[in-house]
Amino acid sequence: MEKISQITTGKAKSLYTTNEPDQLIMEFRDDTSAFDGKKMEALDNKGKVNNQFNAFVMEFLASKGIETHFIKLLSNHESLVYKLEMFPIECVVRNRATGSLCKRLGIEDGLILDPPLFEFFLKDDELGDPLINDHHIESFGWATQEDADAMRDLTLEINDILVDFFKEANLILVDYKLEFGKFQGKMLLADEFTPDGCRLWDKDTLTKMDKDRFRQDLGNVIETYGEVGERLGMKIKLD
Ligand SMILES: Nc1ncnc2c1ncn2[C@@H]1O[C@H](COP(=O)(O)OP(=O)(O)O)[C@@H](O)[C@H]1O
Ligand SMILES: [Mg+2]
Repeated sequence: MEKISQITTGKAKSLYTTNEPDQLIMEFRDDTSAFDGKKMEALDNKGKVNNQFNAFVMEFLASKGIETHFIKLLSNHESLVYKLEMFPIECVVRNRATGSLCKRLGIEDGLILDPPLFEFFLKDDELGDPLINDHHIESFGWATQEDADAMRDLTLEINDILVDFFKEANLILVDYKLEFGKFQGKMLLADEFTPDGCRLWDKDTLTKMDKDRFRQDLGNVIETYGEVGERLGMKIKLD
């Protein structure tokens, strides 16, 4: 697969066109950001760890019938994906209250949310990714009601699959963010699923094993992502 030209560079990944017009190379960089890009740092091996972590989760979801943009791994830090028309929306599911939810509504940290709580956010760093609902999505034309419903249903279906997947590794899937896009009229899971975009707590000690280690300066960020991968049975290559 030929890497032709860079089309986007986000906070953590870059996308390149290829000789196949409907396929892109997604490069995972070491850059790490938090607080809508206000805190930035490069962490050794993050690109490799997250690329392989994402591939493992995307392939696992595909084995459970979830359609994703992921095609295959190309190298330790690059994957081939379908080129999608992305929705400017982030889909969040929370199984426990923490972070911005606690701040926004005065909820106790760690509260179990049953049923899991679903939220839409507008993907816009300058605005601080504000909370939105179906009516905003419809009124501003960010997606049709049908597509908004499909994103919510898929995000909740993925929750059922991933809660059990992480439980096997003695981890609590506290919350996570997904992005979706359309490929030839079909809704596909896009972007990434890595410890950068979810919260994982050790089931016994409640130790944070996700990007909160970076946000809160807890140290050993990428070593901990690697430990999560190992617990899930990944063989991450760093050469
Ligand atoms: N399959 C895809 N096709 C097109 N764009 C994608 C696809 N998957 C993810 N993207 C977009 O690529 C960018 C990924 O880079 P990232 O560094 O995460 O950016 P951001 O700073 O916006 O979070 C995001 O804007 C994401 O929405
Ligand atoms: Mg991103």
